[in-house]
Amino acid sequence: MRHHSLRFRFLIALHACLVQGQAISAEAVAAPIPDNAKTRSEESQSPGRVAALDRWNKAKFGLFLHWGVYSVYGGTYQGQDLWSAEWIQENARIPYEEYAKTAAAWNPSNFDADAWVRSAKEAGMRYIVITARHHDGFAIYPTKASNYHLFASGAYKGPDPLAALKKACQKEGLLFGIYYSPLEFRGSPKGFDDADQKAIDGGFDYRSLGPKPYATDAQIAALAKKQIKELAEWYRPDIFWFDGTWHMMGKWTDADAQESEKIIRSLLPNVVINNRLGLDRSDFNTYENEIPHAPPGGRWEYCWNMGAFWGYNPRNYTPDLVKTPEHYIETLARIASLGGNYLLNVGPDATGKFHPMASDYLQKIGAWVNPNRAAFEGVSQSPFKEAPAWGYVTSRKGKLYLIVRASNASAPLLIPALKNRLLGACLLDSPKIKVAVQCGPGEWQIGPIEGGAHAPFRVIELSVEGEPVAVDG
Ligand code: GLC
Repeated sequence: MRHHSLRFRFLIALHACLVQGQAISAEAVAAPIPDNAKTRSEESQSPGRVAALDRWNKAKFGLFLHWGVYSVYGGTYQGQDLWSAEWIQENARIPYEEYAKTAAAWNPSNFDADAWVRSAKEAGMRYIVITARHHDGFAIYPTKASNYHLFASGAYKGPDPLAALKKACQKEGLLFGIYYSPLEFRGSPKGFDDADQKAIDGGFDYRSLGPKPYATDAQIAALAKKQIKELAEWYRPDIFWFDGTWHMMGKWTDADAQESEKIIRSLLPNVVINNRLGLDRSDFNTYENEIPHAPPGGRWEYCWNMGAFWGYNPRNYTPDLVKTPEHYIETLARIASLGGNYLLNVGPDATGKFHPMASDYLQKIGAWVNPNRAAFEGVSQSPFKEAPAWGYVTSRKGKLYLIVRASNASAPLLIPALKNRLLGACLLDSPKIKVAVQCGPGEWQIGPIEGGAHAPFRVIELSVEGEPVAVDG
């Protein structure tokens, strides 16, 4: 049932961009993200599963890494700067053999897992998710299930990126997540004998790109399941982040999704799995490009990139696309106040380096997040119904954090009264600076803050007895 509605939405989006006479851009094709199904009820789950979910949810801020053969193109094909990145093979309709040659020559000699994880940690992040295989079907680890991977040609002689990243994450105390897409641009959804596909391809004959490496769509699903097993067995991730299945036009079946989960859970009973594997119930929902206005219910994560592209595209780092470090900090505060996680993406370049601006931004984000991390890591959403005009609120047992926009910091602010007894108030980054609080029956008046308004936000920590609960909650 779900597959049909997703497929329908996919066709609509595709039709819309063809009608407008545009080239099919990555964003246009990627637009219909899967319906967020229900997350699993946690009451029936083992304490270990719930603890793992909690650990992930409390990590709050993560780094998403899109890195593969597409990084070599950086959005440009045959001298043409396309609005594309990790979808370039499909968007530019690169012949399969040509793309495979690029893959065989790819030697990301600057890959340094410690440097990536250090950058994430510097930004105040507590987990990473890396693309083990994107929609082009090329694995960045030495899979035994196909010969389409980073180690097959011998051009690259460095360490296994997944093993190295897992180790670096463990060293730095970050959770390690694996992104995997069972989609294959060179096969599904463009099965050549499928009349539907002729239509969605707008008359383009995919046979001109070369022979498909798979005879049937079932082979694509079978390969995916073998690789999913390898990934679970070899790298034992904390998070499995699936993608792409809704582009497979029903050729990734409910049974494929269920079987995959079974394989994973038999090896990793507590691993956290997102909603894009195609199961009716998942551990958490994913939001892209649009942050929910209110807590959407269930566990959730918002992901987006620094700029407009997931994979490497230097255009990301131009003023019309990249935002300010303050913007990403504010996004984190907004998401945390709604109980979600924030997975911020960087696409490393083909050599394995972050764009200097990405590294610089991560540092600047961390320069603010790290001294204020208690307001994010391990917190729950705001106990108030409405978001305040002056900023954002997060909470945990015994604490309420008021994340106050610097421009609002010099005047007293109001919050709805709490049921809790107040024990004290101070600035989170300077606990010696106390903050005045007047507790009225309906509202509490806080501040003003002394000691300067640090941009972009100043965090006031209220200490209270017990779990913060609003009087009108
Ligand atoms: C969309 C895009 C894909 C990207 C993903 C990240 O599904 O199609 O390229 O990896 O979003 O969430």
